[in-house]
Amino acid sequence: MRNLLADLRDITAPGHVLAEPDVVAGYATDWTRRYTGLATCVVTPGSAAELADVVRACAADGARIIPQGGNTGLVGGSIPPASTDGLAAVIISTRRLTSLEPVDLASGQVTAEAGVTIARLAAHAESAGLRYGVDLASRDSATVGGTIATNAGGIHAVRYGPTRSQVAGVKAVLADGSIVGNLSGLTAASSGYDLGQLLTGSEGTLAVITQARLLLRPAEPAAAVLLCGMAGIAEAAELTGLIRAVVPGLLAAEYFDAAGLALVRQAAGLPPPLPAEYQGYLLAEIAGAADRQDHDHLLRQIAGARLPGDTVLAQDARGMAALWAYRDRLTEAIATAGIPHKIDVAVPAGELGAFCAELGDVVRDAAGVRRAGALGAGRESAHVGSLRLIVFGHIGVGNLHVNVLGPDPADTQVDAAVARLAAAHGGSVAAEHGVGRAKTGWLGWTRTPAEISAMRAIKAALDPAGLLNPGVLLPPETATERPERATT
Ligand code: FAD
Ligand code: MLT
Ligand code: ZN
Repeated sequence: MRNLLADLRDITAPGHVLAEPDVVAGYATDWTRRYTGLATCVVTPGSAAELADVVRACAADGARIIPQGGNTGLVGGSIPPASTDGLAAVIISTRRLTSLEPVDLASGQVTAEAGVTIARLAAHAESAGLRYGVDLASRDSATVGGTIATNAGGIHAVRYGPTRSQVAGVKAVLADGSIVGNLSGLTAASSGYDLGQLLTGSEGTLAVITQARLLLRPAEPAAAVLLCGMAGIAEAAELTGLIRAVVPGLLAAEYFDAAGLALVRQAAGLPPPLPAEYQGYLLAEIAGAADRQDHDHLLRQIAGARLPGDTVLAQDARGMAALWAYRDRLTEAIATAGIPHKIDVAVPAGELGAFCAELGDVVRDAAGVRRAGALGAGRESAHVGSLRLIVFGHIGVGNLHVNVLGPDPADTQVDAAVARLAAAHGGSVAAEHGVGRAKTGWLGWTRTPAEISAMRAIKAALDPAGLLNPGVLLPPETATERPERATT
């Protein structure tokens, strides 16, 4: 181990191998504080070539490699394993890989190093009159490399798709230190397996991404934000469909429930958004021109969606930001109330109502709360004793974030029960946040044994010694059972 540290220090400039326990512990703890691991050191290479040398040195030592960007991931994927088993574990942080090339207007693309933050990338695209299609509340820290590795979604996925839809190429370092990839941005080229797409969503298990070629979109300023009071999530999903059918530029369609609204209002001191209280809320952002005629046309289109009576519409920047605050500050508000169990799932639009109707009972039973509790069947969200359930997410793409406060952070019963419920409704146990360390045991509820075998074969081919992010994404060999269909 002493040799490994010395080798790493020989490769990098002074001060870029961090081994002080307090400093390392900061990198080895996730944003939610739920996941912590043990690392020998953190290395911050200054170039792709240096990063490749670091990987080679780790491989020679048999050390585990944990790629890390902004460390905003919510499933423990950027955190080293909790036990060392006598092996070294090296966190490779991309925070010094921050070069950003000028926007290529001819192709509508840009090349960015892995450590560039999404906020910086977005501002860069905007300064060239374009937009980057992925936006998320962690934008100031989340990186290009991390969002590709997790295939991040975010608030505009309903319009532009997840990160996968923005990736035109990547460069990456494989487990043996070789550098692969292509930044030509030639989307018309088709010459075999697409490594950029293979690495998208690979969560640091196949390679360390050092650079990416990304597609940019035309700037589409928001013309209106709507907040509608809803009887529940099924009604919100239906209204989302109606708005999508009549409005060409639906930029965002987000849902949050009454419990989430209460937490945000308390944490941020916000007034009630509507005169009455509702079980759920739909926030929709719509693109459109500021021109008067187009503006009137837009309003007619929105009216065509038969909005409920209790709807507030903002058309100026300040009003739109005020409505977004109820959604944007949810994660932060939940984290101030405790260490949350965050279960990010995807559920088909037509099943959202049934999923949420069963959710209260499922959470309460898994948490061991007695039937007389306030989380009764059919209730989407509630607060019983110290158990709190908050549901929100990107309803336009069927991506729900189930947050549970109360159970011990180390307890995974509630998480597993919610994931199982999503799978039983034809959904996915993991969505935009990825599988990470949190959900490996449940992957078989969403992917077939043949698919998992194919994934293992890819992993074994690219990382035969299993050094890259061991314990992340792929399940332990025995956990490939499929769930029963839930009886409703
Ligand atoms: P990290 O957390 O550092 O790493 C995440 C994973 O990627 C790990 O498995 C890691 O090993 C791997 N990785 C990181 N960099 C590389 C690299 N260069 N090469 C290979 N693998 C790498 N996510 C969404 O999808 N949508 C949202 O709307 C959203 N909102 C959020 C809001 C808040 C307030 C917070 C805290 C998080 C949110 N997230 C959201 C989760 C998180 O921001 C995303 O998962 C993001 O993609 C992580 O990026 P990162 O740079 O922080 O990666
Ligand atoms: C969001 O949509 O705000 C994020 O995915 C973060 C979260 O799930 O808390
Ligand atoms: Zn999200």
